[in-house]
Amino acid sequence: MGRVVVCVGTRPDFIKMAPVILKLKERGVEYRVLHTGQHYSPGLADVYKELPIRDPDFHLEGLEGFKTHAGQTTLIMRWAERYFMREKPRVVLVQGDTNHSLACGIAARKLGIRLGHVEAGLRCYDWRVPEEHNRRMLDHISELLYAPTVQSVVNLGSEDVPGEIILTGNTVMDSLRMVLDEVRTQPAPVKGAYAILTAHREENVDDPGNLREIIKITERIHQGFGMPILFPAHPRTEDRLKRAKLGFESYVNVLPPLPYVKFLSALLNAHLVLTDSGGVQEEACALQVPCVVIRESTERVESVRVGASIVAGLNPTRVYKAAKEMISRPKEWTNPYDPFNDADAAERIVDTLIA
Ligand code: UD1
Repeated sequence: MGRVVVCVGTRPDFIKMAPVILKLKERGVEYRVLHTGQHYSPGLADVYKELPIRDPDFHLEGLEGFKTHAGQTTLIMRWAERYFMREKPRVVLVQGDTNHSLACGIAARKLGIRLGHVEAGLRCYDWRVPEEHNRRMLDHISELLYAPTVQSVVNLGSEDVPGEIILTGNTVMDSLRMVLDEVRTQPAPVKGAYAILTAHREENVDDPGNLREIIKITERIHQGFGMPILFPAHPRTEDRLKRAKLGFESYVNVLPPLPYVKFLSALLNAHLVLTDSGGVQEEACALQVPCVVIRESTERVESVRVGASIVAGLNPTRVYKAAKEMISRPKEWTNPYDPFNDADAAERIVDTLIA
């Protein structure tokens, strides 16, 4: 039948592809896992160690010096091409919207290898967002488009993509279900009410002006609710804060990136989450944690639509008002990231590779 190569390279890839990797194993499909090394900081690049999957079969290393989008993408593309030529996969699977997924996708496409895109069809229609470029390009060169929600099927349909569109649900829900019992046994990181902040998008943290707004948001939230704020800081954000000589007040507890289960437990027990992360918006929606998106747009529109989050941008007053509204809202929404209500997205994906 020929093997499947699963390309992973960032923290969210490991989390979202782990259920697919497990299912490939369970169904006896021959596979290889390629770690492209886009994330190279400890805590992000090695999150697979926390998940019940084997270590990657091949790890591309040495990306640290390649900071630009094109530098990173072209280097991974060349490495991936060499790897695919050697491994001769019949299918390459990529996930989401990162540079390394685009790089692996193009390399596979040009070698005539069948390409599957997990988490296809997400759109924020905001051209300032680098991930939007990647997801659009990937959706137009993939044969198998694994759409996580009904909305993503509609988005792909409206763009007349050449590949086959398959509604699967979101593998983030498979992962969540896999660890939920353990998550529930973890103690809350802080006694009493607290908020969680995650911020690492390029358009937010690469601009010192926007970083200052994020700091002001924490001031406003602390002033308004008197809650401490936990901030597991992404290495990119740590770096940008240092370069801009900026820091938070003492009510913001700046932490290194948390292990997956610990992070989910901190999220589950939080009163509020302020985030620019994609996966965290989905998880907050599923765990019924009030969420305010500190971006001007989101591709997780389903969450907004069911009332699980508000997109508030970076204006501190707007964010405070949104937080107040979210905290008082009844948590009665249904989970749009699991349209089948069974957390079996990985099974549906692997089914298409066996049939
Ligand atoms: C980004 C994209 C997303 C895409 C993904 C992979 C956006 C807005 N986001 O991921 O669409 O699916 O790349 O291509 O474009 N977590 C921890 N510890 C922490 C903090 C978070 O384990 O301290 C976990 C969360 O539980 C979550 C994941 O990391 O599962 C989120 O990762 P993050 O780095 O925030 O990336 P995304 O923005 O989700």
